[in-house]
Amino acid sequence: MTTLGIIGAGNVGSQIARLAVLHGYDVVLSNSRGPESLAELIEELGPQARAATPLAAAIAGDLVIVAIPLKNYGEVPVEGLAGKVVIDTGNYYPQRDGRIPELDDESTTTAELLQALLPTSKVVKAFNHAYAEELTKDGTTAGSPRRRALAIAGDDAGAKATVSRLLDNFGFDAVDAGPLKEGWRFQRDTPGYGPRRTADELRRDLKAAKRYRDQQAASTAQSPRLP
Ligand SMILES: NC(=O)c1ccc[n+]([C@@H]2O[C@H](COP(=O)([O-])OP(=O)(O)OC[C@H]3O[C@@H](n4cnc5c(N)ncnc54)[C@H](OP(=O)(O)O)[C@@H]3O)[C@@H](O)[C@H]2O)c1
Repeated sequence: MTTLGIIGAGNVGSQIARLAVLHGYDVVLSNSRGPESLAELIEELGPQARAATPLAAAIAGDLVIVAIPLKNYGEVPVEGLAGKVVIDTGNYYPQRDGRIPELDDESTTTAELLQALLPTSKVVKAFNHAYAEELTKDGTTAGSPRRRALAIAGDDAGAKATVSRLLDNFGFDAVDAGPLKEGWRFQRDTPGYGPRRTADELRRDLKAAKRYRDQQAASTAQSPRLP
């Protein structure tokens, strides 16, 4: 596998592109405003990178990364992504993304929303819980002490193996949190979301994670009774 298709070239998409180029991959980047708006980034990335439409990036990618806001998930090029391994970097921040009832009531998760839109693709949740700028700083070679780990979740074992290899090539251990429906374990406001963690630390945090409803119940139980 040599080419990563990247849909969304903001904080995360552009950082994953930098990381990929650094590690010898070709990248095809896209955004909502069109390839010409990515000229500066493509120049920075050099000959391994080119810009395209989201559909062309999807088709070109041996593996495709979706790094766009949740509110635009309905615009992903479904046909171009058919049958492919698709990485979802998304997080849900209602103040930014607007209210999404099925995420508010925790009947689904962000990556399951994307999977529902892409029935024949193999969605793997990854890269969502590290700050974009750290992706190009924190990678180290396999076996190095306190190597940083990143969590993944997905329903297809082969797709998860592919993404684990990608993470390893990028300098990170992969920790499997389970199927997509377990992706909430590294969503916003869970212990593993944000800080640098080794694989053992991340496994501990994934285990300790609580659903939002249980976090609220715990904080209500601890707060003093109001008049
Ligand atoms: N920022 C972080 O450190 C970080 C880390 C991990 C995960 N995440 C998550 O990753 C997601 C993306 O975050 P971000 O910070 O990278 O966002 P961002 O900087 O706002 O970038 C969003 C990108 O998506 C593109 N886009 C929007 N709609 C599109 C569409 N329909 N088709 C193709 N491209 C489209 C935008 O293109 P235009 O500019 O042309 O509109 C832009 O390039 C969020 O869910 C975020 O929570 C963020």
